[in-house]
Amino acid sequence: MDNNSVIGVIGSGAMGAGIAQVAAMAGHKVLLYDNNAAALEKAQQNLGIILQKLQDKGKLQSAGDVLARMMFVKDLETFSDCGLVIEAIVERLDVKKEVFAKLEQIVTGDCVLASNTSSLSITSIAAACKNPGRVLGLHFFNPAPLMALVEIIPAVQTDGKLLPSARQLMEQWGKTPVMTKDTPGFIVNRLARPFYGEAIRIYEEGIADIPTIDWAMTEIGGFRMGPFTLTDYIGHDVNYVVTETVFQSFFYDPRYKPSFAQKRLLEAGWLGRKTGRGFYNYTEGASQPVPNKDEALGRQIVYRILAMLINEAVDALYLNIASAEDLDLAMTKGVNYPKGLLAWCDEWGAANCLQVLDELYNNYHEDRYRASVLLRKTVANKTDFR
Ligand code: NAI
Repeated sequence: MDNNSVIGVIGSGAMGAGIAQVAAMAGHKVLLYDNNAAALEKAQQNLGIILQKLQDKGKLQSAGDVLARMMFVKDLETFSDCGLVIEAIVERLDVKKEVFAKLEQIVTGDCVLASNTSSLSITSIAAACKNPGRVLGLHFFNPAPLMALVEIIPAVQTDGKLLPSARQLMEQWGKTPVMTKDTPGFIVNRLARPFYGEAIRIYEEGIADIPTIDWAMTEIGGFRMGPFTLTDYIGHDVNYVVTETVFQSFFYDPRYKPSFAQKRLLEAGWLGRKTGRGFYNYTEGASQPVPNKDEALGRQIVYRILAMLINEAVDALYLNIASAEDLDLAMTKGVNYPKGLLAWCDEWGAANCLQVLDELYNNYHEDRYRASVLLRKTVANKTDFR
């Protein structure tokens, strides 16, 4: 797994095609495989258009050179010379296990096998292999060519010697790698849960309506998109399923509990922008609801959601999910947060954050609002949690 490796990518959908583009633009020979011929053809056409556009804008010297390094293959046997294979197929453990087991019969002994899974355990995928030590997670963000973050996830079985070269390779691809434990949601999909969940909870309780919460989070909180606009954009089929999977994977910890408001959208087929309707109505001529720009209410909303987000980050640090630096990098580079959550805690003050959480806990008596022991210790001892 180095500069000269042939890179194999399995799955030519949104993520696989993007990852293949990144690897080819970094100078690698890339093989892209999909078991659906139409999907592979579509990826080939799209990549041709995207690379030509980059060349036209002066961001790429030669689209032709990059395309010449890419092969769109209909047979997995062609992967025999790969130094690294990245899997980006359907999010199903049984299918991924089958593909990894098959792949191992094709590649050489020192080929590294990576999964781009968002929600499955890398350890369970590695367990399908005869040599699970060569398996790790490389989790890119959508769209892969634009988003800098890559979460590197060693499985329980992963050979530790692979990690420095994985980090180095991702840096060579122009990415910002972070290292994280193989736990549900890794960093980003774990820390970001309250951004959606607590916002929906505030709406369900009738504390504020949808446009007001979005207004508060963007105008006062400084986030690029409000939670409702963002989940409509991501699609409720994707966002709700991630929430539900994370909730189940955390043994039903109430901190990650999904909401009925979002589940009903999914059941109604109101998946967001792509279906014309989600939390908002995107059909032409539909009137858009107006936010109540009450500053005091806006601040209350932001503090509540922010306290929950920071609590996730502090607790992840306490549980050694990643370093403080990587936890902050993940949120700024993976989901464009205006600040890292730990840096935000420093700025706001751990005591203020704890006060908001304790008030919520005292109001609701729900375990959902329990503060991380590290946040509590930090405040009690007046120390830095780093
Ligand atoms: P997608 O549905 O756009 O593409 C998946 C592709 O895999 C399809 O073209 C399909 O034909 C192909 N495929 C399915 N089974 C296959 C098999 N057995 N062998 C070969 N090809 C097969 O999916 P997307 O969004 O690209 O996601 C792929 C993976 O990346 C999933 O594990 C997902 O969780 C993960 N991911 C997705 C992100 C996103 O925002 N879409 C972000 C980060 C990770």
